[in-house]
Amino acid sequence: MNSSHPVPAPSPSTLGESQFPSPRGALGPATATTPADALPSEGDLNLSAHRAHWQSTQLDPPTRALLDADATYFLHQSLSTPCLNALRHASGAWIEDLAGRRYLDFHGNNVHQVGFAHPRVVAAIRRQLDELSFCTRRYTCAPAVELARRLTSLAPGNLDRVLLAPGGTTAIGMALKLARVATGRFKFVSMWDAFHGASLDAISVGGEALFRQNLGPLLPGCEHVPPPDHRHCPFRCGHACNLACADYVEYVLAKEGDVAAVIAETVRCTPYIPPPEYWQRIRSACDRHGALLILDEIPIGLGRTGRMFACQHYDVVPDMLVLGKGLGGGIFPLAALLARDELNVAAHTALGHYTHEKNPVACAAALATLDVLSEENLVENARTLGEHALARLRHLADRHPLIGEVRGIGLLLGVELVRDRATGTRAMDEAERVMYEALSRGLSFKVTMGNLLTLTPALTISRAELDQALDILDASLSHVAAEFPAP
Ligand SMILES: Cc1ncc(COP(=O)(O)O)c(C=O)c1O
Repeated sequence: MNSSHPVPAPSPSTLGESQFPSPRGALGPATATTPADALPSEGDLNLSAHRAHWQSTQLDPPTRALLDADATYFLHQSLSTPCLNALRHASGAWIEDLAGRRYLDFHGNNVHQVGFAHPRVVAAIRRQLDELSFCTRRYTCAPAVELARRLTSLAPGNLDRVLLAPGGTTAIGMALKLARVATGRFKFVSMWDAFHGASLDAISVGGEALFRQNLGPLLPGCEHVPPPDHRHCPFRCGHACNLACADYVEYVLAKEGDVAAVIAETVRCTPYIPPPEYWQRIRSACDRHGALLILDEIPIGLGRTGRMFACQHYDVVPDMLVLGKGLGGGIFPLAALLARDELNVAAHTALGHYTHEKNPVACAAALATLDVLSEENLVENARTLGEHALARLRHLADRHPLIGEVRGIGLLLGVELVRDRATGTRAMDEAERVMYEALSRGLSFKVTMGNLLTLTPALTISRAELDQALDILDASLSHVAAEFPAP
């Protein structure tokens, strides 16, 4: 593990500038009054002054050369390219950069339920490569059928049918198409700030300005409602969600009258954790108005929340459940749409038809992943270590006035930083500084909504590694608090 690499604060002249691109891509001011829909909910941005400063003080010449080459050849886009740093190795809960510095990866794009490069997943992939490396369309293969059988036996309720896809976004697209075919309706209700992927159909139901703005017309009939985020709720429910937002979903379903489906993340990965009755209420509203319920658990399914599927916390069974990310063991891109048998009604429509939909190597990786999850008790590990982490984060909140709220479910944890607990003003500069300070000390995570430290470690993480990460967070908060004296 690295020793600390202190990063001096950027000069005041750089700090006033925003990371949020204006509609024309120029930099504009970011203040506490930045409209909620302009917040980068999916992650911290790659064009910030803090990022540039961190890179100028932390990266060695070979890394800079590789980053420059990356920025020369790849199309630039927000959030990812140009890149932060370069990696040369990843295993277990750790990533290692080109210079050999190791970081506990509390982001991992949420592909790392079984950690990076789990030996059993790697061995299964090697074996499968020697047997059958691709499955031409019109044929099936044993790993794909076995995976479908395993997923349907694990899934809650009557989700007895599967369609595989090479990525989460494409699985979301299949779910939207199936909902249209099954209901004969075309409208969707989804949540502001949600993310369901970056394609045009997925951003139509997604709720992030960064993905939706300046791209012209999106899918018609996509209505958005406020997410269950009590701290920034337009219904002003205050310290706890009073379910007004759930009732508003029913209001919209009734007014529209012909909505095909409500689509949402069961627990938004930032996280927003809805209260226990939330999904029951929306489930029955959907039933009353003939709308399907599609739950997107692409980043949080397969154990992260301390249950195999997050909807099990809420005792609801959706009509469709979408999984992805870690399904391919953090190595292969693979996603799955699970649906009720009664929704097997699109035999004459190509819902997916993706080249790699039954890729045997990806399916072998997924089967090994399911084995590891169960044999290493990783779902239970997420639950017990998640409780431990949440208790420790609450202690941090007692000592750090910057922390406005901590929340978590399993190993999906969020720490909201505020300038002032009374007003809840988002501490966006501070959050970014904490992130880069932690990075310098060997902990990687992302910031969502501008001020939420989002912590999602590998489910294989040990208690000692988790404590090490929380110690780094503690030290980083202290360091940044000293830079930003209380108002
Ligand atoms: C909730 C959610 N849905 C969908 C997606 C899209 O998945 P993919 O990037 O595999 O297409 C993501 C990816 O981050 C996600 O977090």
